[in-house]
Amino acid sequence: MYNEIDLHKIDLTQSPPSVDREPERQYYYIAKCRQWAAGKEQETGRKLKCCTKTFGCQMNARDSEKLSGILKQIGFEMTQEEEADFVIYNTCTVRENANLKVYGRLGYLNGLKKKNPDMKIALCGCMMQEPEVVEKIQKSYRFVDLIFGTHNLYKFAELFYTSLHAGRMVVDIWKDTGKIVENLPCERKYGFKSGVNIMFGCNNFCSYCIVPYVRGRERSRSPQEIIKEIKKLAADGVVEIMLLGQNVNSYGKQLEKPMSFAQLLQEVEQIEGIERIRFMTSHPKDLSDELIAVMKQSKKICRHLHLPLQSGSSAILQKMNRRYDKEKYLELAAKIRREIPDMAITTDIIVGFPGETEEDFRETMQVVSKVRFESAFTFIYSKRTGTPAAAMENQVPDEVVKDRFDRLLTQVQRIAQEEAGKLEGAVQEVLVEEINRQNSAFVTGRLGNNSVVHLPGDASMIGTLRKVRLKECRGFYYIGEEV
Ligand code: 5AD
Ligand code: SF4
Repeated sequence: MYNEIDLHKIDLTQSPPSVDREPERQYYYIAKCRQWAAGKEQETGRKLKCCTKTFGCQMNARDSEKLSGILKQIGFEMTQEEEADFVIYNTCTVRENANLKVYGRLGYLNGLKKKNPDMKIALCGCMMQEPEVVEKIQKSYRFVDLIFGTHNLYKFAELFYTSLHAGRMVVDIWKDTGKIVENLPCERKYGFKSGVNIMFGCNNFCSYCIVPYVRGRERSRSPQEIIKEIKKLAADGVVEIMLLGQNVNSYGKQLEKPMSFAQLLQEVEQIEGIERIRFMTSHPKDLSDELIAVMKQSKKICRHLHLPLQSGSSAILQKMNRRYDKEKYLELAAKIRREIPDMAITTDIIVGFPGETEEDFRETMQVVSKVRFESAFTFIYSKRTGTPAAAMENQVPDEVVKDRFDRLLTQVQRIAQEEAGKLEGAVQEVLVEEINRQNSAFVTGRLGNNSVVHLPGDASMIGTLRKVRLKECRGFYYIGEEV
């Protein structure tokens, strides 16, 4: 693993290892950048500061930990403030407003850079995989120093080094890759829980979704690498892991020795020290009986399944290219509830997909009331250039979408609240995550089913599992007490 490598031993008078020798080439560049940072530190008489801001999903959050790991090795001190020597935005492009947020923040960064011309600004992540975005930044945001994408994130140290000496904006975007580079440094946000990538990319091409275009084709990490990483995390004190992939249920299909996601879970279950296993995201079309059986008998897999519905109308689901229909989703949800009654099912729903009629929308509302999701993320359909849905006719007028969105949200929240109350009075395990943000005499943690619990406590409890009586449910969270 990474921390077994001594950067001081790298001979920087030599030229870098060739591009087919990764991660050694990146270690070389980290060492080079570190030399530069040490010089800067001497010049300024203080440590250099960097700020990593993450937009979007868990996948991006994990990528940001990799960026932070490299920055820390270079010698930067992390800060939440953007008044720093180096600022990097790891962007998302799943909906238009994700992009708008980044453009808005860039104006602010420009102001900061005017005050501190030595400041460096980098952009990476999903949004940068869109050629129109990069064009716009090259034209209108010329103060940005470095742009790279999702496929070459592992090259960050090398790109950073190049940008130090380039004297112009450095842009390096790859369309796709089959490459997975292991053993790069990583700086975890939490000591006790961690995301673990099990696969990258997506092959599903849901017609509204930009992800397959910006994250490329599906590729799985080898089970050996995954297990090695989780064992290392467990040794470092991590008790909860979240296995990450756009569609974890198709894990392992393209491996030399194919392996199912359920088989991978069984191997992960054996790892000592890991108490809780979560995963994200499951595509309903690929969720197997084998997986339900493995979850059912597992002591560690959390009673929480995120199962995006997207729409309850079979006609819309077909236009979305989801490859299941309303009946199949309902059957699947019923099977899960029957087999594992305490499983929380959460979902994502899009309102206002092109051609969605009032009748289609009512079917979504009907599925919501039948499945009774413990929680649901609701989204207004956002047109993403380049996706098949963007070219579809019958885009739904804004007022109609807004009205449906409000109705759906009301229903989703009412059901979530009713479902949350179910555990009142029960004793459950809580993983304590942080000091309560409103009241420092309390701590906040989560149940296996992902519900939030606040209970009296102190910092010594963070990262530990506690048996807690759920005394009172207040809307979406519980007030508890350790037993
Ligand atoms: N518009 C609105 N929501 C979208 N999602 C993905 N693409 C779009 C889009 N174009 C939602 C889906 C997905 C979640 C991560 O984001 O519901 O499950
Ligand atoms: Fe956003 Fe999708 Fe990229 Fe995650 S994978 S950051 S949701 S565009």
